[in-house]
Amino acid sequence: MRIRAAVLEEFGQPLVVQDVDLAGPKAGEVLVKLVACGVCHTDMYTASGADPSGYAPAVLGHEGAGVVEAIGVGVTSVKPGDHVVTLFSPQCRECVHCVSPKTNLCMAIRAEQNLGHLPDGTTRLSRGDEPIRHFMGTSTFAEATVMPEIALAKVNPEAPLEVAALFACGLTTGLGAAMYTAKLEQGSTAVVFGAGMVGLGAVVGARIQGAERIVCVDMSDERLELARQHGATHVMKGGPEATAAILEMTDGFGADYTFECTGLVSVMQQAVETARMGWGLCTVCGVAGKGETLDVIPRWLIQGRRVAGSSFGGAKGRDNVPELVQRYLDGDIDAEAFISHRITLDEVNKGFDLMHHQDGIRSVIQFS
Ligand SMILES: NC(=O)c1ccc[n+]([C@@H]2O[C@H](COP(=O)([O-])OP(=O)(O)OC[C@H]3O[C@@H](n4cnc5c(N)ncnc54)[C@H](O)[C@@H]3O)[C@@H](O)[C@H]2O)c1
Ligand SMILES: [Zn+2]
Ligand SMILES: [Zn+2]
Repeated sequence: MRIRAAVLEEFGQPLVVQDVDLAGPKAGEVLVKLVACGVCHTDMYTASGADPSGYAPAVLGHEGAGVVEAIGVGVTSVKPGDHVVTLFSPQCRECVHCVSPKTNLCMAIRAEQNLGHLPDGTTRLSRGDEPIRHFMGTSTFAEATVMPEIALAKVNPEAPLEVAALFACGLTTGLGAAMYTAKLEQGSTAVVFGAGMVGLGAVVGARIQGAERIVCVDMSDERLELARQHGATHVMKGGPEATAAILEMTDGFGADYTFECTGLVSVMQQAVETARMGWGLCTVCGVAGKGETLDVIPRWLIQGRRVAGSSFGGAKGRDNVPELVQRYLDGDIDAEAFISHRITLDEVNKGFDLMHHQDGIRSVIQFS
């Protein structure tokens, strides 16, 4: 079939929206008609050429939600008409990592996905004789996509798909950091550095887990106000002084749980330093720049602070995303509030501009 899609042709250049060919689903694959797709930092980062593992031409986009149109041989967990959220982090339920409760990093299709291929090593996207690669195994800046069954979360059809799309990346990353990676305990103190989509998700996750105090740190007053609306009990301007201010608020000890949601290594250091001596856990969500390293003074660790990283919030996508979408429907997560702009596929580069200028939290592409 012919579909419209936003193609990364050349690094550092705007995406080019055009018609491309999409072949039907092979065994274990699913054709999804997209209804909505969020625009995330990782798309912009890859388009810029800063990501050394990026490839072109590729159809970008990974925060998608849509409706199953057709299924390939052997697909049993979804059927035409089902509402699904796309997962750049799949869950095969069989690999050594999937059967462990300790991690969400499914190993089943990792190597081919990193190359921009579907699991059988080929692409369904093309233009004439030229194959086009599948970004993050999702390629959701497009009217339709073909994805492996194990990378689709079936969600309650009552949830508007533009809201469900947020759970495909940023929101689940923040929520999950608190709920699945840190497993934050009721009554504890949390500090969240950064109030973008990920940080605000962490604020909500901490609130859901029953944190008594939630301190959110950011540079933007507007975003700090949003953090308050979503459950932060204290807000604070970011910068080197924030460390002392947090220690002072916690009798000099630091917080039970800290979350780094900025991607800045200087802030990651702060998040380690402000984790409580004895048992404080620092969860790193941000993706640092190429080649950057995090310096940790060993004494911080010897004194009982711990550091964890979190990919996709530690969420096992097919299990946890439907649960989180249900919590949105139950009124626990005001996810709609995070959609700041609704744009068309042709306006995808505007979505990058808005993100670059920190205008709003999330732009969502709507496919008509
Ligand atoms: N681990 C994952 O699976 C995963 C998934 C999605 C995104 N990410 C990463 O998470 C990070 C956050 O993503 P986002 O979409 O929320 O980004 P964002 O840019 O919208 O938000 C980052 C926030 O950090 C704030 N900030 C800047 N300097 C600060 C400082 N010194 N102290 C406190 N706050 C400061 C900014 O004002 C901004 O509000 C990025 O690095 C992104 O790449 C990781
Ligand atoms: Zn993302
Ligand atoms: Zn697996």
